[in-house]
Amino acid sequence: MLRALGWVLLSFFFLEASFWIPIYYGELITCSGIVPISYRNDRISITDFGGVGDGKTLNTKAFQKAIYRIQHLRRRGGTLLYVPSGVYLTDSFNLTSHMTLYLAQGAVIRATQDILNWPLIAPLPSYGRGRERPGGRYTSFIHGDGLQDVVITGENGTIDGQGDIWWNMWRQRTLQFTRPNLVEFVNSKDIVISNVVFRDSPFWNIHPVYCSNVVIRNITILAPPDSPNTDGIDPGESTLFTFVHTDSSSNVCIEDSFISTGDDLVAVKSGWDEYGIAYGRPSSYITIRRVTGTTPFAGIAVGSETSGGVENVLAENIVLYNTGVGVNIKTNIGRGGFIKNITVSEVFMENVRTGIKVAGDTGDHPDNNFNPSALPHVNNVVLKSIWGVKVERAGSMQGLKDAPFTGICLSNVSLQGTTGATPPSWKCSDVSGAAIEVSPWPCTELASPQQGGSCANHS
Ligand SMILES: *[C@@H]1O[C@H](CO)[C@@H](O)[C@H](O)[C@H]1NC(C)=O
Ligand SMILES: *[C@@H]1O[C@H](CO)[C@@H](O)[C@H](O)[C@H]1NC(C)=O
Ligand SMILES: *[C@@H]1O[C@H](CO)[C@@H](O)[C@H](O)[C@H]1NC(C)=O
Repeated sequence: MLRALGWVLLSFFFLEASFWIPIYYGELITCSGIVPISYRNDRISITDFGGVGDGKTLNTKAFQKAIYRIQHLRRRGGTLLYVPSGVYLTDSFNLTSHMTLYLAQGAVIRATQDILNWPLIAPLPSYGRGRERPGGRYTSFIHGDGLQDVVITGENGTIDGQGDIWWNMWRQRTLQFTRPNLVEFVNSKDIVISNVVFRDSPFWNIHPVYCSNVVIRNITILAPPDSPNTDGIDPGESTLFTFVHTDSSSNVCIEDSFISTGDDLVAVKSGWDEYGIAYGRPSSYITIRRVTGTTPFAGIAVGSETSGGVENVLAENIVLYNTGVGVNIKTNIGRGGFIKNITVSEVFMENVRTGIKVAGDTGDHPDNNFNPSALPHVNNVVLKSIWGVKVERAGSMQGLKDAPFTGICLSNVSLQGTTGATPPSWKCSDVSGAAIEVSPWPCTELASPQQGGSCANHS
C-alpha cells in the first residue's frame, strides 16, 4: 500500500520534470508496482467442468463449479482458470479471490440475452438508486464483491456482452432497472485487467467501485459505431458504454488501451448528490496514460457525480480523434464534494467539437431530495500541453456563482479550427486562474498576471 502510494506520488513528481525530460512512449512509466504480481501454479480449464465452447451450450454451471472449486480448495498462490479457444455462452457469474480468469487466443466469454433471469442486486449506497432507473440494478455480467487478488487476462480473448438487446430496451425506454456492466468489482483490492477485448457491453465496460489498487492495461474496448447515443441525451452526461468508470476508488492505473465507444472514454466519479455525500468515499490517485480513443462524448471526464470528492488525477499521453469533448470536468449544484489536484497533460486531439469544457451545471439528480446548497469545490485543475486540430470550439470554463472554480491553469494549449483558422474563443464565468501560451487566447478570468500562481510549477 505504502509502496503503491509512493509510486503514484513519484509519478506526479516526475510529471513536473516531464516537461523538459522527454517521455518515451511505453518505456519509462507503467502501472507496475500498484498490484503485487501473482504466480498461479494451480491451473484448471473450464472444459474440466463441462465447459463447451460451441456458442450454443450454456456454460453457467461450468463457470460456477470451476469458481466454487477455486474458492473452496484454496490452493497456495491462487488458481488460474483457463478458457480455451471457442465461444462460451453463459449467464452472469461471480468471481472469487486469488484467481486468474485467462482467456486464450480465440476465447470468447459471451453473455446470454436472458434478461428475465438476469439477477438484480442492491443499488450502490453512494448512488442511492440505479444510475438509470430507480431501485436495484442488474448485476454485472462478470461480478466481484469483496475480493482480493483477481486477474482477468489472456491472449486478447474477448468478453462479449451482446448488449444490443439492452440498448434496444434503453432506446425504447422499456428498461425497468439499470443495465448491467460488463465487469464490475465492488469493495475489492489488488485487481488486474489486461490483454482482453471488451465488446458490446450493455452499459459501462469496467466499473471498479469502492476499490483500491486496480490496474487496467492493454485493453481494447469495442462498441458498434451506431451506439445508441443520439436520441436526445444531453451530450455532457449520457451513460452508455463508458470504458472505465472508476468510482470512489483509489490507486487506479489505466494505461496502453484503445477505446472506441459511445460514452466518455474514461470517467472518474464518486457518488451522486446526497447519497454520495453521505457515503463520503473519494476517488484518489487515479492515473490514466497512453489511451487512444474515439467517442461522441468526452475523452477524459471527471464527473459529474463527484459527491464523495475526486482528487489527485493524472491523465497524460492521450490521443483523441472524432470526439465530442476532449477534456471534460463536470459537476453540478447538489453534488457537494470536491474536484482538486487534477492534471491533464500531453493530449493530442483531432476532429473534436469542443476542446476543453469545465462546467458547474452538468448532470441530473437522483431525486428531489438533493440539497441545492451543497456546492462542489473545484480547485487546482492543470491542463497543459494540449494540442488540437480541427477543433470546432476551443472550450468553456464556467464555475458556479456561489462557488467559483479556482486555481485553473491552462499552459501550452494550442487548438486550431476546422480549416486551420482560430476557432471561436473561450467562454468563461466564475473561474479564476492563469493561462500561459494559450491559443486562442483565453478569457480575461484566466489572463490576469497576478493569478500566475495557478500555473506556478506547471510551466
Ligand atoms: C453473486 O454475488 C452477489 C453479491 O455481490 C450475491 O448477491 C449473489 O447471490 C451471488 N450470485 C451467485 C450466483 O452466487
Ligand atoms: C498487449 O496485448 C496484446 C494482445 O493480447 C499482446 O500481444 C501484447 O503482448 C500485450 N502487450 C503487453 C505489454 O502486455
Ligand atoms: C485484439 O483484438 C482486437 C479485436 O479483435 C483487435 O482489434 C486488436 O488489434 C487485437 N490486438 C492485438 C494486439 O492483437
